[in-house]
Amino acid sequence: MATSYKLLFLPGDGIGPEVTAEVEKVARALSADGVIGFEIEHADIGGAGYDAHRDPYPDETAYRVKEADAVMLGAVGGPKWVDVPFDKRPEQGLLDIRKDMNLYANLRPAFVFDQLIGASSLKEHIIKGLDVMIVRELIGGVYFGQPRGIEDLGNGKKRGYNTATYSTDEVTRVAEVAFNIARARGKTLCSIDKANVLESMIVWRETVTSVGKKYPDVALSHMYVDNAAMQLATKPAQFDVMLCPNLAGDILSDLAAAMTGSLGMLPSASLGDKQPNGLPYALYEPVHGSAPDIAGQGKANPLAAILSFEMLLRYSLGAHATADALRTAVADVLDSFRTPDIMEDGKIKVDTATMGDQVVARMRKQLAKVA
Ligand code: IPM
Ligand code: MG
Repeated sequence: MATSYKLLFLPGDGIGPEVTAEVEKVARALSADGVIGFEIEHADIGGAGYDAHRDPYPDETAYRVKEADAVMLGAVGGPKWVDVPFDKRPEQGLLDIRKDMNLYANLRPAFVFDQLIGASSLKEHIIKGLDVMIVRELIGGVYFGQPRGIEDLGNGKKRGYNTATYSTDEVTRVAEVAFNIARARGKTLCSIDKANVLESMIVWRETVTSVGKKYPDVALSHMYVDNAAMQLATKPAQFDVMLCPNLAGDILSDLAAAMTGSLGMLPSASLGDKQPNGLPYALYEPVHGSAPDIAGQGKANPLAAILSFEMLLRYSLGAHATADALRTAVADVLDSFRTPDIMEDGKIKVDTATMGDQVVARMRKQLAKVA
């Protein structure tokens, strides 16, 4: 094994530690078998960061993140931290790490494994066509715009305010990522905005249109976000790549995820510019949250985290054959084994760790086949 990659785990809160533990099994198996070497480290984020350092994104974590080749995060947040100051809440740790690593492009693929079509809330013929890559702008828009705050108006009354902004440069860089992904997929890109109401969205639409001129082979369309929500829920098959402003992407990605049957299946990758070593700055995390109600009970579905690691293999390491083997292993496992969130008649109900073990075993079989 020539190189060994530094992989930093940020397990976080709730089911985060349980699902990332299963990813660690996969990474350790690849190392042990001499497929890809990983040096594994851990650091705190979210509520775990607050508990240990009174900071949801501790300095030490910020330092280690920059030393790592890729970062794998579990989840943040939970009822334990509802009373901590707003700027120290677990979610702030996630916003801080995205900003600090300059991760402007968030990739959220929503697709359904054939094995899970029955688990979706939608009719089979509608859900069958769902295979969309949501590219969400991650460090701009109303999430980060200044000024923001809560003003005291006296008499116990307040005014809360935020600023929605997008600049040409902010839109250009994420649009380029989306066009390149569209080029490698179905060559169709739908850009989402609210340009009928918001000036920031006028700049968004104009910029996407102008970037699109460099990609004549990609069919570009625009859609208002309210219409997009309806279209996604009723005719998902029309979408290939959806490019979304930060808040719209947050909302539409949960919708797309829920349509696939379980939030427990959907991975994500957040990418920035290149590191000095040529790999991208990148953070991988399951789209589901910390699910405090089921934390610590072995009920969590580790597949979204494991599929996030599949994205890591592809987007950070370019290890496509290994990623393919892992994906096939996940599909195989779904033929027989299910965590409670995706349980169906005739399948065997298993806990988080068993699911991870099954994936590792099948991945090994798969890799032995191709070797
Ligand atoms: C997500 C989450 C986060 C977001 C929260 C936890 C800050 O909902 O990754 O979609 O709003 O971006
Ligand atoms: Mg969200």
